[in-house]
Amino acid sequence: MPTPRRPQRMLAAVLLLLCSLAALSVSAEAKVHHHTWDIAYHYKSLDCVEKLAVTINGESPGPTIHATQGDTIVVTVHNKLETENTGIHWHGIRQIGSPWADGTVGVTQCPILPGDTFTYRFVVDRPGTYFYHAHYGMQRVAGLDGMLVVSAPDGVAEPFTYDEERTILLMDWWHKSVYEQAVGLASDPLKFVGEPQSLLINGRGVFEPFHCSRAPNGSSDAACNVPRSAGCAPPPLFTAVPGKTYRLRVGSLTSLSALNFAIEGHSMTVVEVDGHYVRPVVVDSLYIYSGESYSVLVKADQNPSRNYWAASHVVARERNTTSAMAILSYAGNDPRAPPPTPRPEGPAWDDVTARVEQSRSLAVAHPDHVLPVPPRPDRALLLLNTQNRIGGHTKWAINGVSLAFPATPYLVSMKRGLQGAYDARPPPETYDFRSYDIERPPPANGTVASAVYRLALGSVVDLVLQNTVALNKKSETHPWHLHGHDFWVLAYGDGKFDPERDTARFNLRDPVMKNTVALHPKGWTAVRFVADNPGVWLFHCHIEAHVHVHGHGGGVRGGRGQGRPLAQVYHGLWTIQDPALT
Ligand code: C2O
Repeated sequence: MPTPRRPQRMLAAVLLLLCSLAALSVSAEAKVHHHTWDIAYHYKSLDCVEKLAVTINGESPGPTIHATQGDTIVVTVHNKLETENTGIHWHGIRQIGSPWADGTVGVTQCPILPGDTFTYRFVVDRPGTYFYHAHYGMQRVAGLDGMLVVSAPDGVAEPFTYDEERTILLMDWWHKSVYEQAVGLASDPLKFVGEPQSLLINGRGVFEPFHCSRAPNGSSDAACNVPRSAGCAPPPLFTAVPGKTYRLRVGSLTSLSALNFAIEGHSMTVVEVDGHYVRPVVVDSLYIYSGESYSVLVKADQNPSRNYWAASHVVARERNTTSAMAILSYAGNDPRAPPPTPRPEGPAWDDVTARVEQSRSLAVAHPDHVLPVPPRPDRALLLLNTQNRIGGHTKWAINGVSLAFPATPYLVSMKRGLQGAYDARPPPETYDFRSYDIERPPPANGTVASAVYRLALGSVVDLVLQNTVALNKKSETHPWHLHGHDFWVLAYGDGKFDPERDTARFNLRDPVMKNTVALHPKGWTAVRFVADNPGVWLFHCHIEAHVHVHGHGGGVRGGRGQGRPLAQVYHGLWTIQDPALT
């Protein structure tokens, strides 16, 4: 009889012991972070003009949550809005094993009613730069948002070094209430709130009508004499110590605007996108779409005797909002002293080529952090992103179907096995890509449905988003965000995607992973993901108030079934089905 079994078994036992000791030491270090939040309206003057904002413990934006990979975050939310529901989404956190904490009202949970309390509990499993924001109606636009930063554990090296880090949250801001915006979207005829009054950097801005910002030496125009609260001026960004390198975690939670962010005189090295290490790329300015986050390294290597402008500018829509300014100061200077140079004007708003090129250059993983892509999909969905006329209204739709949430959140009906709680017929997986003309406004009538795509657990799924011109003959940029998963960004293409020709262009060697990706005008974007996280997950354009300037387009979906008149733009919905969920 052969005998060498025993040493092997002993070895296995020792290994097991070592492993469990290692696991123990990790879990002993993992912390639980408790936060208690009161959500309430307060008067705020974020851009020096007073307005009601939805706040967290009186603040808008809310506090940055800091944690380390593997930690647990517990947030107890008290809804003190009196007449309004709420729900909070943790954007970029995949919620592995915790789909009930995703915070998408109508999908993973019922709304948190006025006076009610709901506790979110989830693990932050991966380092990176993330967000949180309201996911009920258009409430995010009212100021309920903030950043969530997950650090790598001590002793785990990242593929770059820096001295200190700062967070930079970019937003757009309207003076009209979120109710006026939402009701306007749902009205017939539609009332569009228009371009934002201000852009905010870390929740601060200075309102100034756009035309006034361009009239150099003051103007006799009464509209330009904006009453301002005392001390209203471009806010400090941070104070840099000469020679130090700063990691800036920059995120955008705009409602409508695509942005360009830059710091005068300082280039930026992009090192992280949506929580993944990217092949470093040096840029003068960063294009950033709603729902995206980046870490950029900035070295304080300029003349330290003066301050510098940091700015965010609207791109992709005709600029009609004064750019936001903040001040990067060097140690020893007055941090509020305006730089001696004129305010930067930013790139041309309509330079699509520059934006697509930057998207492409930032779609490659860091060479030491390539996560292998499955070589082929089990299922490929070709999704036409456009508007349709539905029942006399203009709605955004995917393959002709505009999503409406059912009365019962999907996750609840699936878990309880409720029959008929949502449309059972699956939505179309493709569109007539051979004959469809993306240069012409969509001809077809669409439908509204609560149908979902059901994906087999563990399957590999390709999503190819196809942009077109909408009913107003324009093709816009749509940032698409997937809940519950990250996807590999395989390609950004121009024109119409042809499955036979264009799949050969997919980057299967070293694509970066993301959770939000831009779909550029008249182009297509291809991503791949593994459906390995049971739950019901939204896939949607992250533009919250999506209507067109000329008043006849509209991303309008009344909260049918929820009995709320809030309009919302959701172009799609996905579900990953686990047998355990039904
Ligand atoms: Cu940040 Cu469903 O979104």
